[in-house]
Amino acid sequence: MTRPVGVFDSGVGGLSVFKALRAHMPAEAFVYLADSRFAPYGERGDAFVIERTRAVVRQLRDEYAIKALVIACNTATAAAIHLVRAEHPDLPLVGVEPALKPAVALSKTGRIGVMATRGTVQSSKLRALHDSLKGQAEFILQPCDGLADAIQNHDVARINALCGQYTQAIGPFGNQPGQVDALVLGCTHYAFAWDTLQALVGPDVRLIETGEPVARQTRRLLEAAGQLRQGSVPGSVTLLATGPQEALNAAAKRWLNL
Ligand code: DGL
Repeated sequence: MTRPVGVFDSGVGGLSVFKALRAHMPAEAFVYLADSRFAPYGERGDAFVIERTRAVVRQLRDEYAIKALVIACNTATAAAIHLVRAEHPDLPLVGVEPALKPAVALSKTGRIGVMATRGTVQSSKLRALHDSLKGQAEFILQPCDGLADAIQNHDVARINALCGQYTQAIGPFGNQPGQVDALVLGCTHYAFAWDTLQALVGPDVRLIETGEPVARQTRRLLEAAGQLRQGSVPGSVTLLATGPQEALNAAAKRWLNL
């Protein structure tokens, strides 16, 4: 039996990471779980996110015997990855966190915007990462209430309005001294508002998301464990949703051509 790799997010956002995972490991089998009945996570508080993350990991292990797990959600990673690691020491595990370090390397003005959920912005994990980079750049951390939900529901008018509101709060953008020239997308949902955000901040600003490095790290981990599935036959993909299955299928079709 081929054991799959589990990928999990509160909803459709993790598909942005899943896209990179599939590109890096085309023969691998994947189970993607969107916990959409309980989305969004970002404004619900740690206790709720921890409880849901534990339940999802249990389900993916018991019902699908996953051989590794990618938590494709910044909010769940910040709140719960340390607990999952402690409770499942035998499970190779990869999380996502806002790409502050790559942004420092890219920014010339030293002013970097970070868009994330309230849960991620308020987490001790992001605070520690932020503190570790003190003096290297100035970060403008913007909690983006409602944006993941708007993307989850494919509500284009609300996506445009909220992206406008939050980029305005972070800017001015550009490559001149004092301007923000790098924008970190610290929630996996936001990658699906890429074009809207790029149009708002202008062509001189680099948007940074985490799909690629997470996919590379997952591949390395599987290789090291002797668990990477190779070959020319494309691996199977199972899409699961705790909420309406239709919404996940539509998003996978829209964004991944699945
Ligand atoms: N996609 C998630 C993240 O990366 C969570 C969005 C939400 O459910 O609020 O943070």
